[in-house]
Amino acid sequence: MFDQVLQEVEAQCRAERIPMLGPEKAKFLAGCVEEAKPSLIVECGTAIGYSGLWMLRVLKAAGTGRLITVEIDADRAAQARANFERAGMSNLVDSRIGDAQEVLKSIQTPVDFLLLDNNFSNYFPCFQAIESRLTNPAIVLADNVGIGADSMADYLGHVRECYESETHWFDIDLPWVKQDAIEVSIYRR
Ligand SMILES: C[S@@+](CC[C@H](N)C(=O)[O-])C[C@H]1O[C@@H](n2cnc3c(N)ncnc32)[C@H](O)[C@@H]1O
Repeated sequence: MFDQVLQEVEAQCRAERIPMLGPEKAKFLAGCVEEAKPSLIVECGTAIGYSGLWMLRVLKAAGTGRLITVEIDADRAAQARANFERAGMSNLVDSRIGDAQEVLKSIQTPVDFLLLDNNFSNYFPCFQAIESRLTNPAIVLADNVGIGADSMADYLGHVRECYESETHWFDIDLPWVKQDAIEVSIYRR
């Protein structure tokens, strides 16, 4: 059932042009989660749950870890919740509706993995909103750093100057983008 849900979510995103990582970047994300073995992933920008499903599959296989994912669009969040439920993952995920900059302030537990994927200009404010709960070290991934570099120059400048940070480029097969990058930063106090 999980694979069927993932395929349907990907097909819906392609058909309705709902933004998602796409399989190339999602495989990379899953590999990062597998390697990090996080206790708590926070994702900013759920959409309808495509990237969430990829991360949840790794958490379930590891038998440890959970996901808090935040989406400002209530309709998309409702679809994501239904998708997590159908995929048998709802016990591992807390799907919250709201502006991530505000919602992140209510998270009090340590966060060892952060995924920023909620409109480029939100990355730095979201990073700052959760920073005091990031573990030392924590893994921080930011999507769209190729196509969105100018709009997130504050975020990229900060992580590249302050932390170990690498840009990973991908050839992508999506109707709206053919090449883009993910920034992987190792946050340390
Ligand atoms: C690129 S999509 C997320 C894709 C998703 N991570 C995936 O790969 O399946 C960005 C999402 O962020 C949401 N968003 C935009 N601004 C936001 C904010 N301030 N807080 C939370 N979500 C936001 C948008 O509604 C959109 O659904």
